[in-house]
Amino acid sequence: MMKRAIYTLMLLILAYSYVFAQNWNHEVMIQSDFERGDLDDWGPRGDAGAAESVAVVRTQAHSGSGSLYISEREKTWHGPIHLLTDNAVAGDVFRISSWVYREEGPENAAIVFSVERSFKDENAAHAYANVKTFQIARGEWTRIEAEYTVGADPTQKNIWIYFELPYKSDDMIEESDKMSFYLDDVECLKLDPESRPKAQTDIPNLYDNWISYFDVGVSVTPTDVDFTSQTAQLLMKHFTALVSDNAQKMDSLQPNEGEYNWSMADKIVEFGALTGMRQRWHTLVWHQQNPGWLFQDPNNANRQASKTVMEQRLESYISTVMDRYSFDVESWDVVNEVLNESGGLRTGAQGSPWYDIMGAEYIDKAFRYARAADSSAQLVINDYNLVSNPQKRQGMYNLVKGLLDRGVPVDAIGMQMHISLYDPPVSEVRETIELFGSLGVKVLVTELDISIHRNDSEGMIEVTDAILQKQADLYRDLFDLFKEQADKGVVDMVMIWGATDAGSWKNDFPVKGRGDAPLLFDERLQAKPAFYALVE
Ligand code: XIL
Repeated sequence: MMKRAIYTLMLLILAYSYVFAQNWNHEVMIQSDFERGDLDDWGPRGDAGAAESVAVVRTQAHSGSGSLYISEREKTWHGPIHLLTDNAVAGDVFRISSWVYREEGPENAAIVFSVERSFKDENAAHAYANVKTFQIARGEWTRIEAEYTVGADPTQKNIWIYFELPYKSDDMIEESDKMSFYLDDVECLKLDPESRPKAQTDIPNLYDNWISYFDVGVSVTPTDVDFTSQTAQLLMKHFTALVSDNAQKMDSLQPNEGEYNWSMADKIVEFGALTGMRQRWHTLVWHQQNPGWLFQDPNNANRQASKTVMEQRLESYISTVMDRYSFDVESWDVVNEVLNESGGLRTGAQGSPWYDIMGAEYIDKAFRYARAADSSAQLVINDYNLVSNPQKRQGMYNLVKGLLDRGVPVDAIGMQMHISLYDPPVSEVRETIELFGSLGVKVLVTELDISIHRNDSEGMIEVTDAILQKQADLYRDLFDLFKEQADKGVVDMVMIWGATDAGSWKNDFPVKGRGDAPLLFDERLQAKPAFYALVE
């Protein structure tokens, strides 16, 4: 009897380890516990003359007795750095984990995990990217983990990993940005390719359910559309429309006046064209993510450009971009976020240099230039909080009515719809769509995501089944409404702002590093209840 029990137990253990053991051959790249007292090749990012210090200390430790102490920091970007590889291979995925501790700074503060890359051309400027931001409470060892995928750039060479604080320019730095912190038990693995998350192939295609009513689209990054990536497989399986999240904003596109950097925008448009997706452009005119020179006087960078100069820049930008992409892109965000929260136009004091310099006219002009560049394009005015803020909703109605009355060519109103599980109610979404539709324009949902957070002050929360189910119900109710409104000829495209939770901007907005789970696929590319709710 006893023997039998032991056998059964052994069998169970065997079966268990067979099923659950992760037999991946991950390669250990960095493993630093700081017990031996040496830096293990960690060093400071600051220049040689900087005070910044990176040292092994025995006053704090997550395990054992030693940790790495980063102190005397003077810039947000000061912090510990370590070479990861001198031979970047496209598609390699690194998983970095570490324990972080701090005694200084405010109760909650963010620490950013970033990578630096050099290029085979030694003269090429290094590239820097923030991979993930973490909230670190004061006085508690906190574990952080992030993954970094090497992009498909054959010109890159070295990759370093480092930790820093969210970037601020030197004149904006505060005392808390200089806080010291500790790292311990840092590990960096190169993941076995077999272990990487795969897009599911045995689930329905999302678009099948909706294509006869409207296109379901998605915003993408240039890495998402690497044809060999799993994200690209997911995009091609489920979506029939495409928009870029950042690569088609003016700071990416025209870093210096008249000098265009097309490569990233091209990559996305080519992917869309090759996969037969409908394409939207985001965004021609906005008050954010602009290059530094845009509003400067051409002869004196300290002065604002004149109205004449801005008109000329506006026209030349719109015609240059539209000439290049009109063949592939059919729907254009001509202006983005021109309203303030009271429903009036965003003024200079409210952050819009466009308005400051050109007055309300910049909107009329932008639409007229766009129409001149492409007579058949769908021209869109795009904004947020149009449902949750009735004043802004009415403001949009009045603005578009005025534009149409003046003969300005506006074809559609874009509702961003960055909403949450708790607000706004679906009935208000319906009222908004009907109000806008009554103007005779199309209504697009341009940037849908559903945050799991209640408000801006809530901290990190656990993503429970109940939350995911509530999210699924809301996605379904919204899509049913979009279908109803598509039947009436009003709604035309519904774009979701991001493919997977891993890449969502909501992880860092409105609270850096808080995390979120607003989309249809989780951070491992797996379909969430919200997805299933839309394919049933
Ligand atoms: C966001 C991007 O998703 C982020 O990656 C970026 O850091 C900031 O901009 N409304 C818009 C979009 O019109 O352009 C914004 O996109 C999200 C809010």
